[in-house]
Amino acid sequence: MKFFIDTANLDEIKEAHALGVLSGVTTNPSLVAKEKGVSFHDRLREITALVPGSVSAEVISLEAEEMIREGKELAKIAPNITVKIPMTPDGLKAVRALTDEGIKTNVTLIFNANQALLAARAGATYVSPFIGRLDDIGQNGLDLIAEIAEIFAIHDIDSEIIAASIRHPQHVTQAALRGAHIATIPYKVILQLCKHPLTDKGIEAFLKDWESIGS
Ligand code: E4P
Repeated sequence: MKFFIDTANLDEIKEAHALGVLSGVTTNPSLVAKEKGVSFHDRLREITALVPGSVSAEVISLEAEEMIREGKELAKIAPNITVKIPMTPDGLKAVRALTDEGIKTNVTLIFNANQALLAARAGATYVSPFIGRLDDIGQNGLDLIAEIAEIFAIHDIDSEIIAASIRHPQHVTQAALRGAHIATIPYKVILQLCKHPLTDKGIEAFLKDWESIGS
């Protein structure tokens, strides 16, 4: 499973990129809105120049023709832009049209397996099931990852599954075990992934013992 970061914050992207594990970035309108005073297109230019992998940028329109127009504009920003499109009938039309023009797409706000299958058949490069938001309403987001992975394997579908709406490190481990190709993770959770109290304790003990040797 590959790691994407789920943020529009450049400092977080730089820090995560420096770890050498980052394969891409996802943004959404809420994440962009947190970045006060920055133009969306300028920020996408900065991110795409920094990270060579896929950078998802979401369309705002809800109508197919307008989504297609927006998607084409976004795709002009850089070759590694992936156009993020919400899972609606209009969204599917836009995915098909953009796919036919060779533009990569990420279908977002997926909450059941049929939505994922439809998105894949419309040509989506990526499908994004939101596991945390399903957990929030008392459903099991990780079960959805397993279902989609199984369906895609049975039917030889090559759209990649991005486990999205990740809330904690166990989501990451369990999404990987269930066959997600990618997890898109907030920066604070990426930092949590690096940590274990026994790692800190071990470092402390090694340094203490080393100091006791003297020089
Ligand atoms: C990913 O593409 C989504 O933008 C993101 O994971 C949504 O996460 P949230 O449910 O924490 O807003």
